[in-house]
Amino acid sequence: MRRSELRASPETAYSLFQSVPVAHLVVDGPEVRPVHPVVVDGLVCWHGAPKGEKAGWVGRSAVLSAHEIVAEIPSYLRHPERACPATTYYRSAEVRGRIVAIDDPHAKLAVLERLLARFQPEGGYRPLSVEDPMYAGAIRALGVYALDGEPVARAKLGQSLSDPDRHAVLEGLWKRGAPGDDRAIESIWQAAPEGASVAPRFRGPRDTRLLTRIPDARVGEAVALVRDEYWNTDWDDAVIAGAMTGSEIWVGAEHDGRLVATARAMTDGSKMTYVGDVGVHPDFRRGGVGSAVMRLLLDHGRVRGTRWTSLRTRDAVRFYERMGFTYATNKPGVVDLILRPTR
Ligand SMILES: CC(C)(COP(=O)(O)OP(=O)(O)OC[C@H]1O[C@@H](n2cnc3c(N)ncnc32)[C@H](O)[C@@H]1OP(=O)(O)O)[C@@H](O)C(=O)NCCC(=O)NCCS
Repeated sequence: MRRSELRASPETAYSLFQSVPVAHLVVDGPEVRPVHPVVVDGLVCWHGAPKGEKAGWVGRSAVLSAHEIVAEIPSYLRHPERACPATTYYRSAEVRGRIVAIDDPHAKLAVLERLLARFQPEGGYRPLSVEDPMYAGAIRALGVYALDGEPVARAKLGQSLSDPDRHAVLEGLWKRGAPGDDRAIESIWQAAPEGASVAPRFRGPRDTRLLTRIPDARVGEAVALVRDEYWNTDWDDAVIAGAMTGSEIWVGAEHDGRLVATARAMTDGSKMTYVGDVGVHPDFRRGGVGSAVMRLLLDHGRVRGTRWTSLRTRDAVRFYERMGFTYATNKPGVVDLILRPTR
């Protein structure tokens, strides 16, 4: 690898093969085909139709390659005129080796279960089993393959940028607010070398770091911050969690690796934004954390441009008034919608 700072861990490779919908299989010959990769027991695997052409490739040397664009970085984030800094940040992974056929029915089953979990997570089918007559023949006939090599990964996430350049990129991504920019900021921050400073925009009070996107895996921590609040008494944790992970914007604050604030919003980027589930851990209240998280959210590229931002509150009126929120007045002739539960 020419630039060693781009080298990423094998875990990055496995997680990329586990998350990209399609990877490209280049077979000595040469042949190239898209496949759906899954990782089982450290092997990157894919499947093919019974008697399909992939069955004839067993034993041939091949490369499987996956790529994910994390963010498109425009040049003007780093220089007002020069085009050269324009780039993309990405993760990529490849595995080289010989194609092997997986024949053991239980090993095949593990691959097929993983494929279904990825592409049909909602279920809706009888669990697979090699003993089940509905499946036994299909599992036997289906081709399941893997490459016998070790995967390697590269990640270009601005690791070599100076702190001021990294800050400019992170600031620009938040201001732009394109889909995925919030997650890209977190990835760039996680990949920054040890000792890198937090960009001013994302430094919160009380020694907190503001998160531009709370990872889905931390939804339990975020739910715990608001589940006992008055507006959530009708909802169980799964409903609150679904609202958070399903929100276009979901920011927070962490202190010492612990999530201490959460806030989410839905926006159309033009007319309206709706803010919900704003909560700060009791130990961190009245220290400016809530205001910092709200300021971050309101300055998101797509929220900043909307004509109005609304929310409902019972007793935190002063908190929002300090940020410029005012009471909405009911206009004559306008009737509030009567909501109909859908389930
Ligand atoms: C409301 C909340 C998010 C504010 O977060 P925070 O980190 O404490 O807020 P900040 O420190 O940035 O701002 C504090 C200011 O907001 C106002 N404020 C904060 N909580 C308030 C409350 N419950 N009622 C009225 N005003 C409040 C006060 O003016 C306070 O300033 P002061 O300490 O000088 O009086 C936090 O108190 C919380 O999680 N409360 C419970 C959940 C909740 O009510 N969320 C809002 C639902 S819409």
